[in-house]
Amino acid sequence: MDKMLVVFFSRAGENYVNGKIKYLKLGNTAYIAEQIVKWTGADSFRIERKEPYPEDYCRCIDFAKREQIEGIRPKLLVMPENLEQYDVIFLGYPVYWNTMPMPLYTFLENADLSNKHIFPFCTYECEGAVNSLTDLWRLCATSVIGQELVIKGSYIKYEISTIKSWVSNCVSVQKISEVV
Ligand SMILES: Cc1cc2nc3c(=O)[nH]c(=O)nc-3n(C[C@H](O)[C@H](O)[C@H](O)COP(=O)(O)O)c2cc1C
Repeated sequence: MDKMLVVFFSRAGENYVNGKIKYLKLGNTAYIAEQIVKWTGADSFRIERKEPYPEDYCRCIDFAKREQIEGIRPKLLVMPENLEQYDVIFLGYPVYWNTMPMPLYTFLENADLSNKHIFPFCTYECEGAVNSLTDLWRLCATSVIGQELVIKGSYIKYEISTIKSWVSNCVSVQKISEVV
């Protein structure tokens, strides 16, 4: 049986939800990550920055933009141990300024994901995955990237069946490729 890991970044705090600023106790991407763990029994690893993003939405927006323009790779609290034991990685992130948040760059540039099956999932509020998937594909050139899941953050609770069928598809694709 393939060993699976859910790796994700997500931010609790103020966020823009359906045109209004709201406080989220649990981030949207974290919510999806929790469902995947519940359904598959996968292990889970949350990417955490040493210096967290501001909780305040407007400050966070500016902070993330500046970090992206300057190409900063923020330090992470820890990297996951024993990544080599996993065959399948569900990799989740929120879209930030049309790509992945910079902690994802830190993670992907420092983790050896060669030959692993990666199923990306992302949440967004306005414009979909934009450049984030092409950036992810570039950074995971030695991995096998499967079908992605792209969900509007403020709709996640209404998209449970979409999320569930994506997860079961990923798992069955994986089982088929083991047999072939
Ligand atoms: C700093 C920042 C930048 C964002 N940039 C985008 C963007 O470029 N396009 C978009 O559709 N949504 C953008 N969003 C909205 C988030 O992608 C969306 O709310 C996501 O669901 C948040 O996930 P999380 O709760 O797991 O952190 C941005 C949010 C933040 C805080």
